[in-house]
Amino acid sequence: MSIKKVMVIGAGQMGSGIAQVCAQSGFDVILNDKNENALERGMHSIEKLLARNVQKGRMTETEREETLARLTPSTKLTDAASVDVVIEAIVENMDVKAKVFQALDEITADHVILASNTSSLPITEIAAITKKPEKVVGMHFMNPVPVMKLVEIIRGLQTSDETYQAIEEMSQVLNKTSVEVNDFPGFVSNRILMPMINEAIYTVYEGVATPEDIDTVMKLGMNHPMGPLTLADFIGLDTCLSIMEVLYEGFGDSKYRPCPLLRKYVKAGWLGKKSGRGFYVYE
Ligand code: CAA
Ligand code: NAD
Repeated sequence: MSIKKVMVIGAGQMGSGIAQVCAQSGFDVILNDKNENALERGMHSIEKLLARNVQKGRMTETEREETLARLTPSTKLTDAASVDVVIEAIVENMDVKAKVFQALDEITADHVILASNTSSLPITEIAAITKKPEKVVGMHFMNPVPVMKLVEIIRGLQTSDETYQAIEEMSQVLNKTSVEVNDFPGFVSNRILMPMINEAIYTVYEGVATPEDIDTVMKLGMNHPMGPLTLADFIGLDTCLSIMEVLYEGFGDSKYRPCPLLRKYVKAGWLGKKSGRGFYVYE
């Protein structure tokens, strides 16, 4: 395939996972973050997970070294000038993403694909910020990226077949199963998942049961691997709120109203696992 070099923007939980999986699959990867500490944390998390792969016999020591050699950390967005595909995985906020796509439009050559790992923001709107909307596409990985098999590929209104096929092929090389989704609020995954999580938060808010008991119901009663509140903490409550807002605004239906308790927690800085506190406390 023609894709050889990839830049992943955002070294948080998603970006570091995407960079790891791309490097493991043979792509040269630049992992970019504007925040040096975040970049360091992202690289460290990849190193730890690769070492675990060796420990568990899923990878040889040589493969670990080769994978790391394919990864280059970067704080300069202009490094995107040398890649074939950019995968953006920064905060779920349209204004912040818009600035990055505007800059990428200037930095990258016409043939370069600009993909977003957004959970819910309209790909069509992100694409319209650039002069090459046919090259813009959603490439939505699931968390944790090294473990989860799915990639939702989202076609914006103007995404070309060529762009779609290149990302479909890349997903196969990454050993993921992809599905084709049209650009609607929350796509498929979060249109279905996030209202369930929001409902679980309403269930806490209305005092129906404790977070622990709600999670137990869904784990033992429905065989979910994690209860919805543990999952919300794992995803990040800021991300959950952003997604609910996109659904609420995008469909204009009160059934998507974000729970006031979710808003309160985010305002308090209780963002879940990444901030040390959400529905649960993390050491
Ligand atoms: N990063 C990388 N690997 C991880 C990981 C992480 N954050 N967390 C767990 N793993 C790996 C572990 O290393 C372990 O493998 P080994 O022990 O063999 O090395 C394997 O996953 C299983 O982990 P555990 O035994 O510790 O725990 P588990 O069996 O409960 O599995 C889980 C963990 C895979 C995360 C599981 O709980 C799960 O599937 N949870 C639900 C995840 C989910 O729903 N993800 C989608 C979120 S929504 C989304 O991503 C879209 C969005 O836009 C918000
Ligand atoms: P995160 O908060 O863990 O990481 C975001 C990273 O982006 C941070 O390290 C931050 O420093 C960096 N960043 C912010 N602005 C930047 C900029 N202008 N340039 C470079 N780096 C910048 O977030 P996350 O959970 O990894 O989510 C990232 C994206 O992936 C969001 O769009 C989110 O909706 C999506 N997503 C999240 C999940 C999930 O479960 N958390 C799942 C699928 C998709």
